Amino acid sequence: MIEVQGLEKTYSTGSVTTPVLKDINFRINDGEYVAIMGTSGTGKSTLMNILGCLDKPTGGSYRLDDTDVGSLDDDTLSHLRNRKVGFVFQQFHLLERATATRNVMLPLIYVEDYPEDAKKMAEKSLSSVGLADRMEYKPNELSGGQQQRVAIARALITEPEIILADEPTGNLDHKSGLEVMAIFKRLHQKGRTIILVTHEQAVADHAQRIIVLKDGKIAEDRRVEKQRDPDVELSTLAGGEDEQ
Ligand SMILES: Nc1ncnc2c1ncn2[C@@H]1O[C@H](COP(=O)(O)OP(=O)(O)OP(=O)(O)O)[C@@H](O)[C@H]1O
Ligand SMILES: [Mg+2]
Repeated sequence: MIEVQGLEKTYSTGSVTTPVLKDINFRINDGEYVAIMGTSGTGKSTLMNILGCLDKPTGGSYRLDDTDVGSLDDDTLSHLRNRKVGFVFQQFHLLERATATRNVMLPLIYVEDYPEDAKKMAEKSLSSVGLADRMEYKPNELSGGQQQRVAIARALITEPEIILADEPTGNLDHKSGLEVMAIFKRLHQKGRTIILVTHEQAVADHAQRIIVLKDGKIAEDRRVEKQRDPDVELSTLAGGEDEQ
């Protein structure tokens, strides 16, 4: 479970201080599917970095399960991150010279005991996102949607309980975006906690709950009444193609 109380983040560069997150309060239960929205510069990525243990708050508290994240030293923080969290970014952040399989194996370097069957694990993870036939391709030999799926496979290889995705469909066409949302839907059904940042209402409506940030605070926190179903929309698209 994720719980933030009075969370603050102020960046300081030289004499300039920028308060970004001012008083953020929410609780996200295990297995929830949440979208975070808000205009550019409101602190969505800043919040994601904190939730993902990449960065620490400058005020308030963040509890992840029974741990007060703010009190951890950097080593313990990165340990917690590697164990619990998988990240997916808008820019896929893949190594250009490595194959899909190699890219997906990367996070395993940071786990305590490098698994003997790392390659098999990567192949399994790639298969789970529909890329069984692209394992030896390099990023520049893959489409944008396929690259994002490699990035998702990479996030999944450590079997994290929490998936954090920052604009995962921002660089994708409509259909590839829906395919990514279909993967998130399956992960949610398997009980993973999913937190997704997006500018687009249509993307946010795939989640169960939407939190809107404004001026460093929460402006809205509501349930989605009618969750969109990516599988239905994909089959509608496929139907449309058949008719042509
Ligand atoms: N390392 C940093 N040092 C100083 N200021 C920063 C730093 N990182 C982010 N900021 C500032 O914090 C604010 C929020 O940035 P953030 O990246 O969290 O916004 P965002 O909501 O993700 O925006 P976008 O939708 O454009 O991605 C911005 O005004 C930005 O300039
Ligand atoms: Mg951002």
